[in-house]
Amino acid sequence: AQHLLGIEPLHPTEITTLLDLADQYANDPNSVRHRDVLAGMTQINMFFENSTRTQASFELAGKRLGADVMNMAMQASSLKKGETLIDTALTLNAMHPDLLVVRHPHSGAVDLLAQKVNGAVLNAGDGKHEHPTQALLDALTIRRAKGRIHRLSVAICGDVAHSRVARSNIMLLGKMENRIRLIAPPTLMPSGVAEFGCEVFHDMEEGLKDVDVVMMLRLQKERMDGGFIPSEREYYHRYGLDAAKLAHAKPDAIVMHPGPMNRGVEIDGTIADDINRSVIQTQVEMGVAVRMAAMDLLARNLRARRGAALEGVM
Ligand code: CP
Repeated sequence: AQHLLGIEPLHPTEITTLLDLADQYANDPNSVRHRDVLAGMTQINMFFENSTRTQASFELAGKRLGADVMNMAMQASSLKKGETLIDTALTLNAMHPDLLVVRHPHSGAVDLLAQKVNGAVLNAGDGKHEHPTQALLDALTIRRAKGRIHRLSVAICGDVAHSRVARSNIMLLGKMENRIRLIAPPTLMPSGVAEFGCEVFHDMEEGLKDVDVVMMLRLQKERMDGGFIPSEREYYHRYGLDAAKLAHAKPDAIVMHPGPMNRGVEIDGTIADDINRSVIQTQVEMGVAVRMAAMDLLARNLRARRGAALEGVM
């Protein structure tokens, strides 16, 4: 593929290829041997929405692979003077970047931008739509902890309705033939999830019964524009992951959270820090490896396309 815009268009074999390569990078992330992979290539990171993990790990991944990495300060860009997203994209495209990493608050904005540029675009999260590298790093974390990424029972809990992380994970876990249980209050459960083969629960203890993986989500108040926002105290009581609720999952179930995490809202701090159950720090670690693998594969494709175009004119 030319871009990585979502999990939806990926074939299970493409997911496995990417995870296998990411696994190799995870075993040896700092090796100088990787420095030639993106040598001579330019990577531009454009984050129109806040990020800690995704932006830092894309920057590190690019640098470890030898790319020239530029972080656009979007708050200080000419978007503030009224320039459109497309004009910004065309302007940057004229500088010939090879890889563009884009996060945007609007669903579909990254796809739109990808149609206007010649380089490879990686979606770093667009609105409520997709966050493909998050789902891939979650899959690698699960595969390393459980030894496989198929035929597992996975609970995705919390604000499913506003979550691009949930959407990309539902796509990926479904393609890899896992059982997906969604647990959320009715107001935070999207409609139509049954068509993706997900089981729906509104009660944590019932939904967590005998699962292998517990994936918690943050309450995304920034996307609840004007809608119902639950009280944090009430929400924690019913949907916050604590030891009592976790006891319903399998004894060796792992606990995940994409971050940023709100302790005492969707998860108890002791559970988040319990190194016997929580793989939250591993998720961050795998984020760098997955982004190295994604950019490596897209760069190979970019070189092949440029080589073919050159042959065409000679
Ligand atoms: N998980 C995730 O996307 O985190 P950031 O918003 O910090 O990048």
